Amino acid sequence: MERTLIKDTPKKIGEKVRLCGWVNTRRDHGKMVFIDLRDRTGLVQIVGDEKLGNLRSEYVIEVEGLIKKRPANMTNDKIATGEVEIEVEKVNILAKSKELPFPIETDGYEINEEKRLKYRFLDLRRSRLLKNLINRHQFIKSVRLWFNDEGFIEVETPILTKSTPEGARDFIIPSRLQQGKFYALPQSPQQYKQLLMVAGLEKYFQIARCFRDEDLRADRQLEFTQLDIEMSFVEREDILNLIEKLMIDLVEAYGKKIYQKPFPRISYQEAMKKYGDDKFDLREKKEDDVLAFAFVIDQPLFSWKKEEKRWDSSHHPFTAPNPKDLKFLENGEIEKVRSWQYDLVCNGSEVGGGSIRITNAKLQEKIFEILGHKKEQIKNKFGHLLEAFEYGVPPHGGVAFGLDRLIAIFNNEDSIREVIAFPVTSSGESSVMDAPSEVDQEQLKELGIQITPTQKDVKKK
Ligand code: AMO
Repeated sequence: MERTLIKDTPKKIGEKVRLCGWVNTRRDHGKMVFIDLRDRTGLVQIVGDEKLGNLRSEYVIEVEGLIKKRPANMTNDKIATGEVEIEVEKVNILAKSKELPFPIETDGYEINEEKRLKYRFLDLRRSRLLKNLINRHQFIKSVRLWFNDEGFIEVETPILTKSTPEGARDFIIPSRLQQGKFYALPQSPQQYKQLLMVAGLEKYFQIARCFRDEDLRADRQLEFTQLDIEMSFVEREDILNLIEKLMIDLVEAYGKKIYQKPFPRISYQEAMKKYGDDKFDLREKKEDDVLAFAFVIDQPLFSWKKEEKRWDSSHHPFTAPNPKDLKFLENGEIEKVRSWQYDLVCNGSEVGGGSIRITNAKLQEKIFEILGHKKEQIKNKFGHLLEAFEYGVPPHGGVAFGLDRLIAIFNNEDSIREVIAFPVTSSGESSVMDAPSEVDQEQLKELGIQITPTQKDVKKK
């Protein structure tokens, strides 16, 4: 018999069906036993005799039976199938289950997070997390359709690559074929998307995995997902308009409200003066279904790194200076140069950032020099981009959104870990699988790598 999904049972009153799923709860009433059966689509009540008595929570079962309408006084309006129940004819246990390490019928915030992540495959059984994953899927699906309709092409870019500076530490991967050399995992597809503009793609987007070795917070993971965009023949205004249209369409599709339209544009200086931060919340009181977007623009191109006593890019080194401020680059008043950067903030969180790019190889070299790179280093690290710019580079710019952050905000979650299937813990350990972990001596030998004893090992000895 074909399987019926639990959500469809109210449509099949009087029919014999086969259901599959997990035992959510069991209640014994003497000769009568009630089971709430759960599948991905919901819960339904199963009624039978003592034969059901050997079923335990989280057993995986297959049930055949008749769908009956419940008497009016017996319906349960807490579940979507509350007007029906299944009178069991046959039960088959497909798998038994041990007692779970924690309850899954609650929303789970009260449970120790390390434990939740260790047993993430069970944690994800709770309806809040299942809903978050389904919503994430829907969100990404809408994004892909939206960009397709706007004439964008999705292109995948490499994961094994060379360092692209985005302000964090790189994850590096040793090469076996070229011992002593390393790949870096991309902090973002920044240079590849610019190369795709040189290639003539004109409108690129990607749902891209990015990797940054930085301290973890509620809105930061070591690997996260960006909605990454780049366009040719555009100015800042075109990109801001595109971002605004995208966000409005997504918010409307999600049934939420926007605090202010058009999105306010606030200069970096003004934001710092008014809010003391370039991420701020426009809302006076926190209403859950209202999203307050704002653009932050006119950031300084460089910021001074006190400890290292050097200039760093506020965004990244490929960001173009505002042409009006080029004179300050010439006369050395570096701090006065404004950039063509823009950030998108939403409800106090930075959800996106981008810029118009430098397309003049000479200017790009000058920026690298100000950032403290020697000529030789520039050639080694960024020669490919500078060379590409010599073969007809269109003016271009783009933006990347933190997809996890957007989805968390859309789902009223404070931490992006709640909308990622298998996030890392706050100390950087992977969910379920025990990573990072040691590797075999053989693997290290193949890579030509030797591990030096750590402080801890030295102390032990
Ligand atoms: P940026 O570094 O601002 O820009 O990153 C874009 C957006 O990605 C999100 N984000 C993160 N989300 C989760 N965990 C992290 N560790 C993390 N780091 C960043 C933020 C941020 O706004 N290549 C440029 C974009 C461009 O210029 O087009 C870039 O990566 O929401």
